[in-house]
Amino acid sequence: MLSDVIDILADPVDGTALMLSEDGSRIVSDSGHSYDIARQGYVTLAGGAGLRYSGDDASMIDAREAFLSRGHFAPFVEAVSAAVNTVLDEAGVPVDAQAAIVEIGAGTGYYLSHALDDVENSIGVGLDVSVAAAKRLAHCHPRAGAVVADAWSHLPFRDNSVDIIVVAFAPRNAAEFARILKPGGEVVVLTADQGHLRELREPLGIIDVEKGKVARLIEQAAGHLEPVGEGQLLEFPMDLDQASIAAQIKMSPSARHIHPDVLHTRIEALPETMTVTARAVLTRFKPVS
Ligand SMILES: C[S@@+](CC[C@H](N)C(=O)[O-])C[C@H]1O[C@@H](n2cnc3c(N)ncnc32)[C@H](O)[C@@H]1O
Repeated sequence: MLSDVIDILADPVDGTALMLSEDGSRIVSDSGHSYDIARQGYVTLAGGAGLRYSGDDASMIDAREAFLSRGHFAPFVEAVSAAVNTVLDEAGVPVDAQAAIVEIGAGTGYYLSHALDDVENSIGVGLDVSVAAAKRLAHCHPRAGAVVADAWSHLPFRDNSVDIIVVAFAPRNAAEFARILKPGGEVVVLTADQGHLRELREPLGIIDVEKGKVARLIEQAAGHLEPVGEGQLLEFPMDLDQASIAAQIKMSPSARHIHPDVLHTRIEALPETMTVTARAVLTRFKPVS
């Protein structure tokens, strides 16, 4: 709920502290700005420029939920939660502390809710620019709050307030991440790697992940964040039926590039079930000291 995370949120306009209004319908800042809480439980915290993107639409979010609920990405979510625990251990965050975990571009909150389950007493915020995502995020976990905001803007969090930032297949704003992390805090990033879904590329006409994506990610973060150790390569086979393959494609940017009828015909031509490779790199980053 938003009330659990209000202390780490900040006014997107001027960074001042936020509090809940007495009737619980709004969030107001020390400087007098007011943000309505939507009836579905999320709040939009966008500064003066508003939102430039709309993010994933409702059908993409539904497809993501359908795919993830079948457990196909379980090794990814387990690796992210293990990294979250390792970072908290190494930072010496006491078990009874309310560790603050933020997921950027959180989608359905799959990674966030798993991490919150894994870390007792932790609280979390799922931030996404998509309203369809925020509606899910608001109910993804009892200790999570949902915020609509643009990852590329001034993030609506207080300086040095967050223990862990999780980013799975979503935008990374290194300068802002460095600002909002507590000392000892880290960013846990999951990035698709070349060869991800390789068996589907040709039959479905979807493009591969570009080469050197992780190296570019490290370059882009330079000056704000630096990697902690080597990235961890995660590769595993998934047995996907045609419904899971359709959900996987519909939750990805390919959904916007392939006409649904064409996709349907191509998927029908595939075997009933296929073994498909999942491949990503998990990288930890800490602020440059
Ligand atoms: C590939 S999905 C990943 C979702 C989730 N992390 C997962 O792996 O299940 C990318 C998400 O980032 C969101 N997104 C895209 N651009 C964004 C931006 N500029 N600010 C915030 N969220 C954004 C999309 O709406 C979408 O939910």
